[in-house]
Amino acid sequence: MTEKNAGPLPLLAARGLVKAHGRTKALRGASLELGEGEILAVTGASGSGKSTLLHCLAGIVRPDEGAVTYAGKQLDRLPEKELSELRRTDFGVVFQFGQLIPELTAVDNVALPLLLAGTSRQEARERAGAWLERFGVRGQEEQRPGELSGGQAQRVSLARALVTTPRVVFADEPTGALDSLAGEQVMVALTHAARESGTAVLLITHDAQTAAYADREVTLKDGVVVSEAGAALEVSR
Ligand SMILES: Nc1ncnc2c1ncn2[C@@H]1O[C@H](COP(=O)(O)OP(=O)(O)O)[C@@H](O)[C@H]1O
Ligand SMILES: [Mg+2]
Repeated sequence: MTEKNAGPLPLLAARGLVKAHGRTKALRGASLELGEGEILAVTGASGSGKSTLLHCLAGIVRPDEGAVTYAGKQLDRLPEKELSELRRTDFGVVFQFGQLIPELTAVDNVALPLLLAGTSRQEARERAGAWLERFGVRGQEEQRPGELSGGQAQRVSLARALVTTPRVVFADEPTGALDSLAGEQVMVALTHAARESGTAVLLITHDAQTAAYADREVTLKDGVVVSEAGAALEVSR
C-alpha cells in the first residue's frame, strides 16, 4: 500500500472505480482511502470526475467496475434497501447548492432526517434547533431556504448533514457558490463539528483555501486519483 495513513483499515475505500455516463468515462480506475475521522480533500479540474467519485463512494451511484468498501461492507454489492438504510444512518451529504427543500422552514429541513429515522417531532425539532444555533443560524429557524443568504442556507445544509451524527460527511464543493467569507464560515463550522464528533469528511473542492482545511489532499485527473506530485497512486488496469 502506498497510502500515508497505513495502519488500521480505512473506514471507506474505493478500488479501481470505473464509471461511464453514456460515452463519457467519468472514472477510469479511481482508488482512494478515507480513514476514520479523517478530513480528505479531493481536488481536480472541472470534469475530472470528482462528483461521480463522490456519488460512488456515498452509494448514490453504483460503479460499472471496481469496489467501494465501507466499514468492512462492499457497498456496491448491498441490496438497495440495505444501502439506503446505511446511507441514512451513517452518511451525510452536502452539495454545492444546499438542495434544501424549499417548502420547509430551516428547522424542519434539519429535522427531516431525524423524522425519517423515527425520532419524535418534538425531539427532532429540538435537536435541529441546537444544530442551527451552533452554526449561527438560530434566528432563521422559521425561514424558508429562499429567505436565507447563500452562506446561511449552506450552514443549514451542514446542520442537516450532521444532525444524525453520521460517520462520514460527503461535501461536493460546499463553498463553491459562496463568497470567501461565507465559505470560510462554512468550512470552520464543518471541520469543527467533524473533529468534535470524529466524523470523517470527503471534501470536494477546486479551491486551495478550502482544501487547506483538510488533513490530506488527493487530486483527480481524467478519472484517476493521482498524488499531489501527479503520480498515479494505483494503476489498476
Ligand atoms: N449525468 C451525466 N450525464 C452525462 N455526462 C456526465 C454526467 N455526469 C457527469 N458527466 C460527465 O462526466 C465527466 C465527469 O463529471 P463529474 O464527475 O461531474 O466531474 P467534476 O465533478 O470533477 O466536474 C464530465 O465529462 C461530465 O461532463
Ligand atoms: Mg462536480
